Amino acid sequence: MDLFNVYKRWDIEPVRGRGSTLWDRDGNEYLDLYGGHAVISVGHCHPHYVAAVTAQLGRLGFYSNAVQSSLQETLAEKLGRISGYDSYHLFLCNSGAEANENALKLASFHTGRAKVLAFGGAFHGRTSGAVSVTDNPKIRAPFNATGNVTFVPLGDLEAARKELSTGAYAAVIIEGIQGVAGIREPSEAFFQDLRALCDGTGTLLVADEIQSGCGRTGRFFAHQWAGVKADLVTMAKGLAGGIPIGAVLISPDIQASYGLLGTTFGGNHIACAAAIAVLDIIEGESLVAQAEKLGNWFREQLEGDPALVEYRGRGLMIGLEVKPEFKGLRDRLLYEKHIFTGASGERVIRLLPALNLHWQDARTFVDAWRELTR
Ligand SMILES: Cc1ncc(COP(=O)(O)O)c(C=O)c1O
Repeated sequence: MDLFNVYKRWDIEPVRGRGSTLWDRDGNEYLDLYGGHAVISVGHCHPHYVAAVTAQLGRLGFYSNAVQSSLQETLAEKLGRISGYDSYHLFLCNSGAEANENALKLASFHTGRAKVLAFGGAFHGRTSGAVSVTDNPKIRAPFNATGNVTFVPLGDLEAARKELSTGAYAAVIIEGIQGVAGIREPSEAFFQDLRALCDGTGTLLVADEIQSGCGRTGRFFAHQWAGVKADLVTMAKGLAGGIPIGAVLISPDIQASYGLLGTTFGGNHIACAAAIAVLDIIEGESLVAQAEKLGNWFREQLEGDPALVEYRGRGLMIGLEVKPEFKGLRDRLLYEKHIFTGASGERVIRLLPALNLHWQDARTFVDAWRELTR
């Protein structure tokens, strides 16, 4: 058997990591500013994280949701306190797409409505519901029907108003900052107006914070920059630092019947121990504030850079749109400078590093950038 060929892969295999450094089999060293796609929130192999996960594995690795779980309760309490969503309920699952599936299903169940409003450029995952609210027909199969989904341009309040005022929509789903689209940020005013539109039409606001959450933008959730609260918030990626997890934060006004949602692995002991350790590190090392400071520094260094069309993003969710002549820059960073970065199309480099990135590593990137673009 060989691997199903759906990923474009670099010809590099990291086998060891520490902080924001990776090593391949031959001992070559790399700087990781991609974080395995925003997953490595507290760095590779943080000693507290490794100790917490291995200790849990040695105590009890798994039991299903048929039993009590004080780990899940601890995680809910901590996540509520750190995120400011303490009055909400927590449902745990296994991935970002699954979190969005559950949020949309719950919104539809609660409102009795079938339609969902999504935005141009949106990415919410590849499972059926999640891909149907994703603005990319190339990753949809005929089965993933979008009959109940309408897309309007991000930031177009009038288009959103026109749709929502029909009263047919269960939910609006919006990324805190669009990641896959190349780091596109809805304005704070748009978030506020959307909140008011949802309130006026009985529509639930679902904030997809799968990539932009967990402190990455300098607030625990990116939508909190706008001072709004969503009815449902979805998380995954950085929450458990690399152990699969998905989470839905659910407004206390929303109820479900027993069995409406469920999953075998969701909320398992290892994922909970990992997420608790990540949140302890984020809190103990003040990493939300650190993400903001590092982000401000990157912006100071790179905004207006001659190789750039635009610097986008907040904190450590950064999109660097380069001029056409720098199209291959991401590969050059990788192969000439040994720096991992993300991409969006051929001309946007995405930085999604660990929130505890060292200042000298940030400097290394900026130096490498300047050497390759001057
Ligand atoms: C904003 C957003 N939502 C959802 C997902 C899907 O998450 P997963 O790959 O864990 O299913 C992603 C993944 O990149 C994402 O960036």
